[in-house]
Amino acid sequence: MWSSKHLAFLFHIPRVKPLDHLVSPFRALFSTHIVGDEPILVRDFVHSALYDPKHGYFSQRSRSVGVLERSIKFNQLEGRKAYMKHLDKIYKDSDIAWFTPVELFKPWYAHGIAESILRTANLSVPLKIYEIGGGSGTCAKGIMDYIMLNAPPRVYNNMTYISVEISPSLAEIQRETVGEVRSHLSKFRVECRDATNRSGWGDVQQQPCWVIMLEVLDNLPHDLIYSKDQSSPWMEVWVERQHDRGTLGELYKPLQDSLIRHCFEILDLDKRQTTQSSVLSKAKSIWSKVFPKPRRCWLPTGCLKLLEVLHGVLPKMSLIASDFSYLPDVRILGERAPLVSTKKDGRSSDYSSYLDAKGDADIFFPTDFLLLERIDHYCSGWLKLNKDQSSKQGKKRRTIILDTSSFMEEFGLPTKTRTKDGYNPLLDDFKNTKFYLSVPTHNIK
Ligand SMILES: C[S@@+](CC[C@H](N)C(=O)[O-])C[C@H]1O[C@@H](n2cnc3c(N)ncnc32)[C@H](O)[C@@H]1O
Repeated sequence: MWSSKHLAFLFHIPRVKPLDHLVSPFRALFSTHIVGDEPILVRDFVHSALYDPKHGYFSQRSRSVGVLERSIKFNQLEGRKAYMKHLDKIYKDSDIAWFTPVELFKPWYAHGIAESILRTANLSVPLKIYEIGGGSGTCAKGIMDYIMLNAPPRVYNNMTYISVEISPSLAEIQRETVGEVRSHLSKFRVECRDATNRSGWGDVQQQPCWVIMLEVLDNLPHDLIYSKDQSSPWMEVWVERQHDRGTLGELYKPLQDSLIRHCFEILDLDKRQTTQSSVLSKAKSIWSKVFPKPRRCWLPTGCLKLLEVLHGVLPKMSLIASDFSYLPDVRILGERAPLVSTKKDGRSSDYSSYLDAKGDADIFFPTDFLLLERIDHYCSGWLKLNKDQSSKQGKKRRTIILDTSSFMEEFGLPTKTRTKDGYNPLLDDFKNTKFYLSVPTHNIK
């Protein structure tokens, strides 16, 4: 059931209540300064809390994405208990909040991804790989190492690997990691920019390419919509400074933002309500006034924006994304709600409000993979909203959602992550993460 992020919760660090008195005055100030005199959308709040160049969580070199000093030798560990003990030590010795799977299972995780690319790519054209949010560069290095050693030399010699990374400090670490192998450097470059920003991508590129995103969707900004009971209309949520200026609160407006509206339509939330018979909906309306139950629903608007940009600029991309399909023990309310998690003095704790995120907390969301697939089909131009056109033309993407274990069994080397007694953390523990693969079909136009 658990991912690396939650192994930390489960086995290593006692859960504690947020220790607000330990937060420095500077940080307290930052959370309210994210919001100026005007209210901002929730996605802009999340974006600043995570990526503000000075104070954002991912802008701080030391703690957002960890690098293991050396690979774990799974084959030398006895079993689950020994693995947990080892992990416990790693977490205790570091200031790192989480180690992502590509890091914990290096180099095998990245090698599995490289193998999936080599098996599916048309190797008669130069291989072009983009990675978005490459963290510490472990995936990039692992993939390039694998191609260097396993593909025909011309494939390695002619390949390019472009990392698009929003955090300047992580971009620097990526250059260092990949630079450990000198020959990779002429094929690798980091572009330090926001991948969801169309202007950074330049002209449309018609050649086939690969786009990799590991644990990136979970950190993309989301929006929040709210309805005060089961039948009232949904409203978009904005964040504003309260009158006392020291705290933040929510403000509700009718749905007007175009990204929110598109996401809402892709989700079909409206239809779910309007397809009910009038008698049933009247009964529901009365019931909701007598027993009102507020509704909150998080929308992956950052993902929608990113896929719109990617489909626009790289129409023949093949996409490999891996992320959490489910998060346990979420304290924040709403469908697809995030965990807002921080680590202080070696201890992890979750905030119960996203408004408490001050650049010291990771805000990460579960990915609804079926919704991701719909967004992908929508951005490819095949899925049309409010029209029944989708079925008339062929799909523009072939897609598949796989459990991490299925993906790794197919493309990876599972024996390398197996302990002596047969326990295999990559296959046995990562039940709440999935892979999404999406490749173009011939129905491009
Ligand atoms: C949780 S980390 C995952 C890092 C790495 N992929 C891994 O699995 O170890 C998320 C990464 O995405 C980057 N990121 C988030 N939003 C981004 C954006 N809009 N454009 C480019 N990079 C982004 C972060 O800076 C960070 O490197």
